[in-house]
Amino acid sequence: MTKEKFLWGSATAAYQCEGAWDINGKGINIWDEFCHSDKNKTGITGDVSCDFYHHFKEDIKMMAEGGQNTYRFSISWSRIVPKEDRIVNEAGLKFYDEVLNELEKYNIVPNVTLVHYDLPDYIGHKGGWCYEGISDEFAYYASVVFKHFKNRIPLYVTINEPTHNAFCNYMVGNYPPNEFNMQHLCECAYNMMVCNAKAIREFRKCNLTSQIGIVHASCLAEARFDTPEYKEAVKYGNMFNNDWVLDPAIKGFYEKELIEKVRKSGIDLSFMKQEDLAVMKENTIDFLGQNAYSRLLVKPYEKGETCATVNNAGNNDGTERAAKEGKTVKGWFESDTDPNIPLNPWGREIYPKCIYNTLLNRKEKYGDIPIYITENGHGAYDIADDQGYVEDDDRINFINNFLAYILKAKEEGVNVKGYYVWSTMDLYSWINGYKKRYGLVRVDYEDGNLKRIPKKSYYWYKKFIEEHKDV
Ligand code: NOJ
Repeated sequence: MTKEKFLWGSATAAYQCEGAWDINGKGINIWDEFCHSDKNKTGITGDVSCDFYHHFKEDIKMMAEGGQNTYRFSISWSRIVPKEDRIVNEAGLKFYDEVLNELEKYNIVPNVTLVHYDLPDYIGHKGGWCYEGISDEFAYYASVVFKHFKNRIPLYVTINEPTHNAFCNYMVGNYPPNEFNMQHLCECAYNMMVCNAKAIREFRKCNLTSQIGIVHASCLAEARFDTPEYKEAVKYGNMFNNDWVLDPAIKGFYEKELIEKVRKSGIDLSFMKQEDLAVMKENTIDFLGQNAYSRLLVKPYEKGETCATVNNAGNNDGTERAAKEGKTVKGWFESDTDPNIPLNPWGREIYPKCIYNTLLNRKEKYGDIPIYITENGHGAYDIADDQGYVEDDDRINFINNFLAYILKAKEEGVNVKGYYVWSTMDLYSWINGYKKRYGLVRVDYEDGNLKRIPKKSYYWYKKFIEEHKDV
């Protein structure tokens, strides 16, 4: 039997890179709406971004020349089902067909996410992720995608980063609908998992050879001390940041302890329905997409109201550097800081070992489920020379150190099957706009042609892939 090829690639998401926000029948999504509203204090939008919609051939060629054999991207829901009437936009399907043609030309394996934060506006107007009917709408859209693309897409992902998305929507309030509301946070979280299960149910009906998974944002919660109080904080940290996604997605149910803790925190759980829980039970994922950025460092809860800041929380008011990332969840845990761990310019820990600890924990808890590292990358204020070339040694070090721990976990038996750098090229970084860059390839937003210039990290990654083809 020939050994399965390890997937080495990079990732993007529709709203962040496509541009072309209002052409060829695309509907409006909640990010188009937010960016064009008064709530967007910087005025920066993803209307054009790096215009992947018109540059995808060039971008895919660059992936191939960089030795990448897989590409993770997302489909814009509102390009496929633009309006509430559920009529499918053929031009939307055609665009992604063309992207897939191009990937096939170079033998690049597509890994495709159905929703990466960008809900259609008609869902947003009804309550977004808190809208009861969202799971049926999502299942419909998902079935259109499965029936059209079938096995051309071997790896499907239902939802990108439920935790981060839900926290930003309803706890930090920096993503639309920009609320702080713990009741809504829980409804959103629950609906996301119902959406995941109902989309998987549609997927199974299609009898494809493809596989389906979910992309999870959070690494493990950890603590600086090993006392019973700190251990309990870690348990609550993981319940809050990991278990509500991973348990239903992989095992098909929530642990009772989590439900009870949420109920005791004053949340009205009447939105939970037996029929949804039955769908969850029957429809679990084939693989886990695990993103790798940083851990949640916790200490026992002491005082204060529930609140959260993420690493981009400050930027929407025009400041360039956000508050340190952190959370207080009343009665559960508080974020801690470790003076020995360096922080990136957005106040987030640079702690590569978090991915090793996380991968080992996933195996211990969930067995041999296949895992793809669906994002790993370093945001920076890149400085380019006169030719637009960026010597991004900080990014190279970051990725290299994470990769060492990922490959170590793989050697120790974790079923890691692929790895994606975030991001393929520079793109719109949500509230951080265009200043926070992650790309392996620089995009010159000023030159009028959105010129692509590979960075030092692009060449470094190409060599790394060559040397690790057969891991
Ligand atoms: C995770 C998200 O999936 C992506 O959209 C975002 O830009 C990166 N993290 C970097 O913050």
